[in-house]
Amino acid sequence: MGFKLLKAFHVETRRLLWLTGLVFITVVLFQCIELPKGNSLWSMFSPGEVSEQKVNFFGKNSTSYLVSNMSSPSAVNSKIVSEDGNNFSGRVDEGRNNVPFISENPELGNTTKSNSSFTESLKEYFALHKGNSNLALIKPLGAPLVLSHDVAPNFSMEFGTSAPPAPPPLVHVSAKNPRLTVFEKEVLSLSDMSEALIQNFASPSTMIPRWSSKADEELVLAKQLIESAPPLKDGLYAALYRNASMFQRSYELMEQMLKVYIYKEGDTRIFHRPPLLGIYASEGWFMKHMEANRHFVTKKPKEAHLFYLPFSSLQLEETLYVPKSHDRKPLIQHLEDYADMISAKYPFWNRTEGTDHFLVACHDWVPSETKRQMANCIRAICNSDVKEGFKFGKDVSLPETNVRKSQNSLRDVGGKPPSKRKTLAFYAGNTLHGYLRPILLQYWGNNTDPDMQIHGTLPRSKDNRNYINYMKRSKYCICPRGYEVNSPRVVEAIFFECVPVIISDNFVPPFFETLNWESFAVFVAEKDVPNLKNILVSIPKKTFLQMHMRVKKVQQHFLWHPKPLKYDLFHMILHSIWYNRVFQFRPR
Ligand SMILES: *[C@@H]1O[C@H](CO)[C@@H](O)[C@H](O)[C@H]1NC(C)=O
Ligand SMILES: *[C@@H]1O[C@H](CO)[C@@H](O)[C@H](O)[C@H]1NC(C)=O
Ligand SMILES: *[C@@H]1O[C@H](CO)[C@@H](O)[C@H](O)[C@H]1NC(C)=O
Repeated sequence: MGFKLLKAFHVETRRLLWLTGLVFITVVLFQCIELPKGNSLWSMFSPGEVSEQKVNFFGKNSTSYLVSNMSSPSAVNSKIVSEDGNNFSGRVDEGRNNVPFISENPELGNTTKSNSSFTESLKEYFALHKGNSNLALIKPLGAPLVLSHDVAPNFSMEFGTSAPPAPPPLVHVSAKNPRLTVFEKEVLSLSDMSEALIQNFASPSTMIPRWSSKADEELVLAKQLIESAPPLKDGLYAALYRNASMFQRSYELMEQMLKVYIYKEGDTRIFHRPPLLGIYASEGWFMKHMEANRHFVTKKPKEAHLFYLPFSSLQLEETLYVPKSHDRKPLIQHLEDYADMISAKYPFWNRTEGTDHFLVACHDWVPSETKRQMANCIRAICNSDVKEGFKFGKDVSLPETNVRKSQNSLRDVGGKPPSKRKTLAFYAGNTLHGYLRPILLQYWGNNTDPDMQIHGTLPRSKDNRNYINYMKRSKYCICPRGYEVNSPRVVEAIFFECVPVIISDNFVPPFFETLNWESFAVFVAEKDVPNLKNILVSIPKKTFLQMHMRVKKVQQHFLWHPKPLKYDLFHMILHSIWYNRVFQFRPR
């Protein structure tokens, strides 16, 4: 009964959305007539038209789809395929077997989301732009205008063709909600994030287990031991960590105590079958190593501190997502059915309401796929976006690693010494992913300044030499957000010993609970893109040298080895999950 009502309600809201969309397009068309001619990119859109273009970003053999359907609200949902084309041969081709991959906005596919945000964003848009005739249109330089929902819902901006004396105010159009937001709004600084982490550790709100277990006592003991950690022994470089002695103690305790139970259930197309290539490879490598592990894995769930739900979010998409359907419900349903099955079959989920269960998943959609049934679980996710419900002290930011050859994940690691790094800043990649990259290219992409090597997709080269060499000989590697906050460039930069410059508001960097990111990376607010060069130039040489040295030291935490090694990426992921469980745990 209630369900029916809800359904009727959804139908109603959908109809409303349609109407709003139509009204919006009409208004936009009127606006377009009023705007000065140079700005009338609006006229590119014809309402009611369904257009589907094939866009080729990655070379001949792989295709990407860009779908745009102006007449339906779900059109805003459309997105270009495959994250982050930086011309890595094989990024899409190898990893995804040329399966066209439509990456979507996680929020929009979800019908439970309030639809009023669209109307709100319209209001916001018109309030903002009222009488502001120099509001410019963003258009990637030299790139065809694309109706991607991240640069839209279907309005674009340009900052004027002649260089303005003072940068015009940056306005970004994010289709997240889809809501138009000025950059200044609601951005959590790294110190805000640290504050949130410390608070959540100090007063965790996780449920107290229904009955206690031996593993619980061990968690309590571990916490005491970590909090009274002795000063650092040799081996770790203290500046890289929030508190190196706590990290070291916690890591040792993990090695001595941690037991993980892995559920055997699940459709084998989605569970237990780790994909090892492409930009979502982290989930696959973790699964592979975890399932093969003898040290941490236990067959006795009663002695486990943690329970692993071993699914691949990429396989979930590839198995159940109907391309272009914009319908993620089957994926969400599949995970929820799985969780229901686990909680009905075993007593462990109910004991803690899933708070000692964890998942490791890298797909963009994971936050929305897991926000209901799996909300209590420790979620190690690549899409670690504060705005998508990342919980400090519970969730773990999973590094996004682009693995091109699974046999040799360590190939080419390293880079030139600082004195041989002549390029100040480097970026190359798909400029159509998200709202930020067009802006980056707009400001720095016209190649007039040799210090700023900011490019679109580089020409294809064997094994991606071109791209790799740039990373190996640049001081700073720019890691702007794409559709979502994370980018494989963060780990790539570390891999090639280039200091990462992260431009991605509200992105929680990997292993945030233990690493002191500001000691080896630069964080630039999205709104400060126009000042990028000034910011980098103003970093003293000594500081750069120090950061470079630390990048080399932190590198060990970001490497996949064929067989896991101490402090490597596999162990770091497991450690962060362990650490969060220890500090979130509340005994009976
Ligand atoms: C690190 O943690 C230990 C143990 O809680 C504490 O004694 C020490 O003061 C901390 N060090 C820093 C640098 O915060
Ligand atoms: C756990 O709780 C759910 C919901 O309350 C219930 O359906 C399920 O049977 C419980 N599981 C076990 C093993 O008792
Ligand atoms: C692009 O290049 C011109 C010189 O050709 C320069 O004056 C201008 O500032 C550059 N544009 C931007 C936005 O930096």
